[in-house]
Amino acid sequence: MESGFNGMGTAPVDPRATPEMDPALRIRLADLCEEGWDIWDRFDRSTGVENFHPFVAADYDVVLKALLPFRAPGLKFLEWGSASGIITIMADLLGFQAFGIELDPELVRIARTLALRLDSGATFTEGSFLPQGYRFRPPDGDGRLGTIGHGPSGYIQMGRHLDEFDLVFAFPWGGEEPLMLDLIRAYGRPDAHLLLHTVNDGVRVYREGRLIGENGPAGPRIPKG
Ligand SMILES: C[S@@+](CC[C@H](N)C(=O)[O-])C[C@H]1O[C@@H](n2cnc3c(N)ncnc32)[C@H](O)[C@@H]1O
Repeated sequence: MESGFNGMGTAPVDPRATPEMDPALRIRLADLCEEGWDIWDRFDRSTGVENFHPFVAADYDVVLKALLPFRAPGLKFLEWGSASGIITIMADLLGFQAFGIELDPELVRIARTLALRLDSGATFTEGSFLPQGYRFRPPDGDGRLGTIGHGPSGYIQMGRHLDEFDLVFAFPWGGEEPLMLDLIRAYGRPDAHLLLHTVNDGVRVYREGRLIGENGPAGPRIPKG
């Protein structure tokens, strides 16, 4: 895939100032993000402390900025742990063929309902984003899957393999990045981009296992080294 990713030191991408973005699309995206925060508030309040659920929403504006430079006809986007579906629907609105995999059935239901209501073609599958039989084997031998949940793999039901996707997005918990990098290396397309939201509200962009850029609330930054 030839991407226009500009995270190597060129000007920050501002969706409000992106001339090629249709004003109607801009409004749809803004409404979607607003709806995302409402869903997150409701979900957070209804699950409460007793029923802790590890769903934390990404910074939608930062993710939008990170996705914009990748827009190109026919590209496939996958979100690992798509939760309420906001980012997968955002990718669909931006023109990607967009898919999300999520373990939690209630979140999958919320995402499908939202996609239907917003007339989005985003597709959501209930299951795990870990392929069947995948085992993380890091060099230090600690192959625990950290806080990533367990469940049957979602790829068969989705009818797609990981190596069909040009762009994969996830918001990992701290410590899960190495597993996600290993997963894309082992099962992804060699030229796929992996976008990982970070705990400090940025998005790191990896390709072929290398960090090639980082978008934060203050714009793109060149990685050291
Ligand atoms: C930190 S939240 C991120 C939600 C969303 N991607 C975002 O950025 O707003 C992680 C999500 O991944 C889901 N999840 C955790 N392990 C998973 C797995 N193995 N397969 C699919 N989803 C998983 C959780 O249920 C949760 O909804």
